[in-house]
Amino acid sequence: MSRLVNGVRSFSTTASSLLADASSASRSVAQPSSFQVFRDVPPLRQLRHQLLKNERTVGFVPTMGALHEGHLSLIREAARENTDIFVSIFVNPTQFGVNEDLSSYPRTWDSDVEKLEKLNDELGRAGAPGAGQITAIFAPTSKRGGSRPVFFRGVATVCMKLFNATTPDRVYFGQKDVQQTVIIKRMVQDFLLGTEVRIISTSREADGLALSSRNVYLGDRRRNVGLTIYKALRAAEDAYLSGKASRADILGAARSITDRVLSEQKALAPSERALFEVDYISLADPDTLDELDLVDSAKGGVLSAALKMAPLEENKPGEDCGLGDGKVPVRLIDNLILQPRA
Ligand code: PAF
Repeated sequence: MSRLVNGVRSFSTTASSLLADASSASRSVAQPSSFQVFRDVPPLRQLRHQLLKNERTVGFVPTMGALHEGHLSLIREAARENTDIFVSIFVNPTQFGVNEDLSSYPRTWDSDVEKLEKLNDELGRAGAPGAGQITAIFAPTSKRGGSRPVFFRGVATVCMKLFNATTPDRVYFGQKDVQQTVIIKRMVQDFLLGTEVRIISTSREADGLALSSRNVYLGDRRRNVGLTIYKALRAAEDAYLSGKASRADILGAARSITDRVLSEQKALAPSERALFEVDYISLADPDTLDELDLVDSAKGGVLSAALKMAPLEENKPGEDCGLGDGKVPVRLIDNLILQPRA
């Protein structure tokens, strides 16, 4: 269970002596806890400093909350490779466009914390894959960023700030946001940041749908149709694997799936269908993300797509239409890496 002390929420589970030291030295409680929530950078830095002195390593998992299995798998990976894990939870307003879903982005603080507590129990058990456990949650308030927007633009800026606050040995990103992973790798290289960027493969449902915090808004009908994004990317990947290298052949295979599904949906009654718009389907260079006309088989490529699932036009009685009753538009993204061919 958690409680709020001095603006810092603490958790009454197993104590770590280091954390207790850092707690009493910082704004948090003397009460033993398995991890703490930090709202401000200085006490977090103090903990980081102590960990460094004790030759412990920090793996950092930045998130915007609404945690799902995909995030937990990043944390499990971090626990294999580090003694301590910092997780940030911050819905970064500057990475949402004017018409994007900042206001409807799911905010699920209590259940996020519950999931992290449960995961920490799992990580602490004998037989857990690594020795690491979650030590700190960094949940800055957005007030500061909002009032000084010049310091706080976009994913690269927020990640740079988060990296400076946590100085992690390794940082963990999901492959799903492939453009983000390329930007972060480039930023770490260009600014000579001493952190290793670890990219972990996308967590998927059994049928292939990529896990996303936004999936809670889909409901059954849009979820089934939304799987088209994965099927289209797989068709494009199959074209590449069968020896095709041109953009027309590879993306044509994806387009034929999205076109077919969309015309099938349009032919259905409004109470049966789920309409969508293909935002983009891309075939890009794995290092620069420049669009490719031809895949260099020694290098491979990145296939990625975004589908905008429109709100449902009519709900059926008793239908699971997802959070928001099918009215929230949902943008799905996914990607597959085309591996270099021998
Ligand atoms: O991938 C995300 O959830 C966000 O882009 C990140 C890395 C937490 C930055 O806000």
